[in-house]
Amino acid sequence: MTGLATIILAGGKGTRMKSSLVKVLHPIMGKPMLSYPIEASFEGLDADKTVVVVGHQLESVQKTFSKDPLTFVSQQPQLGSGHAVLCTEKVFRGYDGTILILCGDVPLVRPETLTELVAFHRHEGATLTVVTTRLSDPRGYGRVVRGKSEQIEKIIEEKDASPREKELDEVNTGLYCAEASFLFPGLRKVETNNRQGEYYLTDLVEIGWEEKQRILAFEVPESDQFLGINTRVDLARAHDIVGNRHLQRWMLDGVTIIDPKTTYIETDVTLGKDTVIHPNCVIQGKTAIGRQCVVGPHCLITNSQIDDGVTLRAFSVIEESRIGRGAIVGPFSRIRPQSQIFENAQVGNFVEINKSSIGKGSKAKHLAYIGDATLGEKVNIGAGTIFCNYDGFEKHPTIVGDGVFVGSNAELIAPVKIGDDAIIAAGSTITRDVPAKSLAVSRINQKNVAQWRDRRLKKK
Ligand code: UD1
Ligand code: CA
Repeated sequence: MTGLATIILAGGKGTRMKSSLVKVLHPIMGKPMLSYPIEASFEGLDADKTVVVVGHQLESVQKTFSKDPLTFVSQQPQLGSGHAVLCTEKVFRGYDGTILILCGDVPLVRPETLTELVAFHRHEGATLTVVTTRLSDPRGYGRVVRGKSEQIEKIIEEKDASPREKELDEVNTGLYCAEASFLFPGLRKVETNNRQGEYYLTDLVEIGWEEKQRILAFEVPESDQFLGINTRVDLARAHDIVGNRHLQRWMLDGVTIIDPKTTYIETDVTLGKDTVIHPNCVIQGKTAIGRQCVVGPHCLITNSQIDDGVTLRAFSVIEESRIGRGAIVGPFSRIRPQSQIFENAQVGNFVEINKSSIGKGSKAKHLAYIGDATLGEKVNIGAGTIFCNYDGFEKHPTIVGDGVFVGSNAELIAPVKIGDDAIIAAGSTITRDVPAKSLAVSRINQKNVAQWRDRRLKKK
């Protein structure tokens, strides 16, 4: 069998995005747009080589994908999609296999479609195969003009189309499979006599037709996967399509998503069976949520690990942290990076935790700030407790042993250590270490002044 290579076109600036960021780096569900066709190609095909054509912001694009086995080709200046492919000619010198052409701005294509396309192209012995689909609203896409036979005669861009051609509903998806032996010589014949003054890749169809090459359409009914992203309106539709695909997969895998319309779960997130996600949650990055968890409404979870059986109550925010099995967090808790809440611990209303670990079965249920602290098991942190970890210059640690009881409204001035089973009296300001099992009280003694109110009234 002859070789197979992929070219992904990402040279265009994406003028219609009206953005300082190059179009293909705009994220869709947390991942840059260009990563989608790259992954689809890796997944669907075993190509010898994957070449990416970049025009604008070459360095940032290259940096974003530095871990992938890609060959980058720079296109300067950007004279159209035909010119973009021609720029890769130097990396294909002496190559006479099949070349699959994808567009960086047509990201939703399924890997299976690419596999089927190559199989079709080879089975049919085509010179060039264009992937087409039918759209009820074909505006903005190139239209496919079919001949009398199964061959296609040309692709006409919207801007160059006559009113009759505009009525055609079969469109060019921007994905092609071509024989290298035709592709590069053909492209050299492309001219710029069109409304945009560009070298159109699509002109290859007419060139091939005139040369009596075998030019075929591979028509795919499921058109969602060919959405071309040209504007931010298209970008929002892409979010919708990718989001729904993933949510459906999770639901079929046993996750309850109560309201898919208001649930945003990025593509690298994993979810365990019998977990329930309530409306308005945003789950991002490499977050892994275990089995039988409940994520209450309005939670935001980023790059975190949530073990089995965890309950996250409404409006909790968790970043780069781990929540242990059976723990209960929220409502209104904020768990900041590098924190770990161990098994069966409970963190409640308006508790902020930063760079701290909360031991097994410990509780901080109301209004507290816990920063740079290590708490042992079965600790109780009373309402209003503040771990004073910052002295205006540096951060300092606090260590709290197992079984410690911290009364309400205490301040622990770091660095400080509280021994196992110690008790901190409510309202105390703790500046020195507390030995195990001791009571620490630091508050002025209460004085009661008898009959004070009556004496005060008499004075007036
Ligand atoms: C293109 C097709 C159109 C098709 C549509 C599908 C052409 C002439 N038209 O139109 O028939 O229906 O895609 O979405 O190809 N590019 C470069 N360098 C350039 C210009 C473009 O690399 O100088 C890349 C773009 O980054 C993009 C692709 O080529 O990935 C298509 O270019 P774009 O300008 O978006 O073409 P469309 O008008 O969308
Ligand atoms: Ca486009």
